[in-house]
Parts: sequence; structure tokens; C-alpha cells
Amino acid sequence: GSDTKFSRPMPVPPLLAATVGTGGSVHYDLVAQAGTSELEAGKPTETYGYNGAILGPTLRMRRGQAVEVALANHLPESDHSDTNLHWHGLKVPGSMDIVPDLHQGIHSGETALAAFTPDQPAALLWYHPHPHGSTGLQVNLGMAGLILLEDDVSDALPLPKAYGVDDFPLVVQDRRLKADGSLAYMESMGGKDFMMGERILVNGVENPYLDLPAGLVRLRLLNGSSTRRYAFALEDGRTFHQIASDGGFLAAPVALTQLRLGPAERAEILVDFSKDLGRSLFLRSEAFAAASEEAEAGQGRGFPVMQLRIARPGTARPVPGSLTPVPRIPESEAAMTRRFGLEDTGDAVINGKTFDEMRVDVTVSAGSTEIWEVTNFATTIAHPFHIHGGQFQILSRSGGELPEGERGWKDTFLVSPGETVRVILRFQGLSGRYLYHCHILEHEGAGMMGQFEVQ
Ligand code: C2O
Ligand code: CU
Repeated sequence: GSDTKFSRPMPVPPLLAATVGTGGSVHYDLVAQAGTSELEAGKPTETYGYNGAILGPTLRMRRGQAVEVALANHLPESDHSDTNLHWHGLKVPGSMDIVPDLHQGIHSGETALAAFTPDQPAALLWYHPHPHGSTGLQVNLGMAGLILLEDDVSDALPLPKAYGVDDFPLVVQDRRLKADGSLAYMESMGGKDFMMGERILVNGVENPYLDLPAGLVRLRLLNGSSTRRYAFALEDGRTFHQIASDGGFLAAPVALTQLRLGPAERAEILVDFSKDLGRSLFLRSEAFAAASEEAEAGQGRGFPVMQLRIARPGTARPVPGSLTPVPRIPESEAAMTRRFGLEDTGDAVINGKTFDEMRVDVTVSAGSTEIWEVTNFATTIAHPFHIHGGQFQILSRSGGELPEGERGWKDTFLVSPGETVRVILRFQGLSGRYLYHCHILEHEGAGMMGQFEVQ
């Protein structure tokens, strides 16, 4: 109920303690399990999570340090209890991209092991299940967690980096609850082919509050929703600075009063609360124009997301003038351009085809660079397009100037109705098969997905 809004603290997902794995690697144990959460105060909801009832612990990883993650499936046996793990945004061999793989889920009672060595810039990445046909359902039930990848650059930058003290992850998701408190999924969408909720959760709690220090604060945002986009802003319209996109730091902080974030995208922002001790203000999502079909389901409405309470003294510090060089990949490096069309045919298709596990849609050569042009021919909905296999750069948007915040490393980008987005990808350090798809998880599940193979 609305009287309980902003009355519960935002949980911070715990950092998972590591043990020593094979050959001195960092070893993490994840257990997929069912539990009971209070998404809304006073109402128990059955949810899924890792090592807990909802969401999962944060996995800290280091560039160049081998890591292995064991996932044990303790989900209750059902027709959707097979699961697997995908490292969204991490550049890993194709055999590790989804573990064990897209179809061979880990059955209830079984365990699978992923092992790889991250070699890419520091960033906020995430993990979630990707079992073909039930990704959306499992993520809706609560399965997702964060990865904090660190490196020498992130160590050296003078930024807030005390996890849960002045550096907070915010997993923002929308959900729909039935009258009995259980999570609704597609049955409540009135025939639409995507899921959108009307309750806004941050780290698994509806409209929480967060106590903050009166200083410079770093918020690491993940839009963990299936379809809902956000236009994040502070209640008083103050300027804040975006310092990172999906795949890591931007070249320099970008001053903003509003930050757009589509499904699966991440952004890190710095907000200066040094003059606000004792105040509280809302982090909001502001209203924006949405295409017809999504607007009908509530896309583009404005609402408060959570309350920020400036509760204790903090450290005032300047926003750095620059962060780290992000060399632009020159277009001349690309060996070819490929086109991908997302259509509105009533079927979830890319270039007229629905996903087929037996079909490789695109073959690329290892080490090559390509330009991919993605066009959304639909008129009624924006599609967030995600390409597995690590990070790439956006070259242009036919809809207008590329925002500064999109000039860094990306793994997911929004394609508005009628728009064409051009991205440039380096297929370095990749091998095997990877996916590309719409990250509206119901579109992915319905087959708006393709497969590329690096040879
Ligand atoms: Cu975040 Cu293929 O997924
Ligand atoms: Cu889509």
C-alpha cells in the first residue's frame, strides 16, 4: 500500500565471499533457490534468488584474475526449474557465455561450473539465467545479480568506492503483484507480448529509502526490468554526472539532469549531496513520450523510484575532470557492414526469421571488426538490442545526435520505432557461438534472437 512506501530501507546486495578455486582462481558458489520476499511491506511473495530469496549476491571480479563460479540448482522441481547462467556484458569464450548452454539447463539438484578470466575495463556487469523460453519468467521471479569488475584504472580514480557506504548498486525493476501477493507474469498483460509492472522495486524492495552521506555519492544503476525504461532524475532537478555506461568509464563525466536507461543497460552517476545534510529527496523517473503499444501498458509515466535521505556527514570531493581514455574504434577498421531488421509482423523476428538454435545466422572471423546496423521497423514499441560477447561502441543513431553518455562501451542499446543504430564491434578474444537479441525478455523468448559464430 502507498502508506508503506519509502518506509523500508533499500537492501544492498551482499558482496559474496570467495574461496580459492582451481589453479588459484577466485571461486564463488551460487545456489539458485526459492524463498519468500516482502516486495510490498507486510505481504509475503514467493520469489527466486541466488543464495537468498530474491536477486543475488554481488560478485567482485578483477581484470586478469581467473574466476570460477559454481551454480547449484536448488529450485523446486517444476516445468520451468531448469536454469543456467549468462554473464551479461562479459567477454568470455562462447562455451562459457551461457553455462552449461542455452538449452541444457541445470536440472534441479544439479551443479554447473563456469570458469573464465575477465579481460576488459572495470564496469558494472550482471548475471542472469538464460534458459530458452523461461528467461523472462525466471528473471521476473527474482533471478539476477551484479558483477563489480575492477582494474587498475578503477583503483586509481578518485571516486567514491566504499561499497554500501558511498557507492551503491541500484537494481531497478518493475513488477506486478496479484491480489494474493504472488508475482504476476504474462497472464496480467491483456494480450501484450511483453511484461510491464506497475510497482517499482529497488534491490527487491518496493519504493525503499536509502540513507546517504552528505558528500559525493556514486549510484550504479541497472535497469533490470524487462520492458520498462526510466528517465532518472533527482526531485529538485539538480545536475548530476554520468561516469560510466554498460561497459565501464566514459572518457569524462557528463553533466545531466535526466538519465535515460533502457532494459539491461547500466549507468553510474555521481551526485553531490554535500550541502544537503538532513534533507531527503526522491530519485524519480520522469514522464517521457512512449510509442503507442508500450504507452498503453504504462511506459513513459513519471513516478518516484525511491527516497534518498541525506542522513550523516560525508566527504565533499570534486567530480574528476576526466576519467579514462576511451579510444574510438575507427569505422575504417570494419571489414563489413551487416544489417539487422526488427519487424512488427506479429512474430518476434530479426531479418524475417525467428530464433532457431540449429541455425547460425552470422559467421564472423575471429579478430575482425564489423559494423552492425540495427533498424527497428516497428512503430509501436522500442526494442533494447543486446549483443553477447562483450562490449562495443555506438557509431550513430538515425534519430539524432549520439548522447555523450553513449560514447563509451556498450552491450545493449535502445532502438526506437523507425530508428537505425549503427554499432562497431571487435571480435577479439572470442570463440564459438554467441547470441544477439531484444532484451525485452518476452521478445527474446518468442524468438527475436539470432546466433553468431566466431571462427
Ligand atoms: Cu542479458 Cu542474452 O542477455
Ligand atoms: Cu523487443
